[in-house]
Amino acid sequence: MTTFREGFLWGAATAPHQVEGNNVSSDWWAREGLVPGMERSGDACDSYHRYGQDMQLLADAGLTAYRFGVEWARIQPEADVVSHAELAHYRRMIDTALALGITPVVTLFHFSVPRWFAEEGGWMSDQAVDRFRFYVETVTEILDGVEWVCTINEPNMLAVMISMSRLAADPEARKKWASPTVENPLMPEFPPPSEHIGRRLAEAHAVARSVLRERTGAKVGWTVANRALVARQGAEKKLEEVEWLWENLYLEAARDDDFIGVQSYSSQWVNEDGVEPHPPHPDNTLTGAAYRPDALGMAVRHTAEVTGGVPVLVTENGIPTRDDERRIAYTREALRHLAAAVTDGIDVRGYLHWSLLDNYEWGHWEPTFGLIAVDRHTFERTPKPSLAWLGSVARVNGQHLTS
Ligand code: BGC
Repeated sequence: MTTFREGFLWGAATAPHQVEGNNVSSDWWAREGLVPGMERSGDACDSYHRYGQDMQLLADAGLTAYRFGVEWARIQPEADVVSHAELAHYRRMIDTALALGITPVVTLFHFSVPRWFAEEGGWMSDQAVDRFRFYVETVTEILDGVEWVCTINEPNMLAVMISMSRLAADPEARKKWASPTVENPLMPEFPPPSEHIGRRLAEAHAVARSVLRERTGAKVGWTVANRALVARQGAEKKLEEVEWLWENLYLEAARDDDFIGVQSYSSQWVNEDGVEPHPPHPDNTLTGAAYRPDALGMAVRHTAEVTGGVPVLVTENGIPTRDDERRIAYTREALRHLAAAVTDGIDVRGYLHWSLLDNYEWGHWEPTFGLIAVDRHTFERTPKPSLAWLGSVARVNGQHLTS
């Protein structure tokens, strides 16, 4: 007997800016040259050209789903230009997945925006929601046969990044800004996401959801970074405050969605001052986060509680490590916690590992999350044992995980 439902999606995820390469019309490409110490994405994994091989490796391993994104900056390199050739490119990606028997999970927006959109004021400009609506309407032309669409990736992290990118304009403050996801001694903990920005993103999500519902048959959701926050004794009130700003605002905005994407890596304490930075520890991962495979179960339970039972799709979970045995150990443990949540009645539809490839980790190449290693010069792909391992779990729909 397996805990997971029939048709459970087993797969892996990537994001366009992190794997495609040469995303030259995006704000991230422009920013990479500005911040001292920040590495460039460059050719990335050249998945723009090699997506077919990526998907073939995923399918050959026994996985059945691939989460990838459409890059807004390619579809609309200028405000008044729509690239039909790029739309056709992403349609070919969808067709490739379908031909291989892979369920495509398509993200419309994953952190990088067109440069012109950023220059116009980004998400907080008066035109932002209409600009996004137009982009989403445009992409619906190629979504035939796509069952799962994520509108905005990690709106809560994005809200933090929007505040932080304002810092990047100031040369002194810029030194503090290294990467949104990599340990930074100058900024050991993120500032909490601003509620004002969060509400704007929720508005954009709601607009995208209605466009998608009108024009496609896809299930629509957004994907929220879940930090599995836990209160220190006496900090219960602070936890409520912090959880609202970090997560619950975004989870409540998903109550009418078809699914909610859960993205979980670690867990953190909250004390009376707010979220505690991860304490240094030899077990910490390459991004400086605590090794906490149990966080996935906590994240899924918290999400189900706040959304009132919206079906869950785990859209990201993984570990940055050079030791692939450790990746397998982490993932096995995380899946056991996921299985326990399912046994307790939570409706979970799939598990997408972050990431399929060792990719560009927003300013750095060192934190390797991939099931597949990529040579940065030849772009040769070398599957790690974890890919075959996850595929073997998928083939038996997660049986034996708990034995
Ligand atoms: C993001 C990914 C990122 C991953 C690991 C999430 O914040 O959606 O783009 O690479 O976590 O840090």
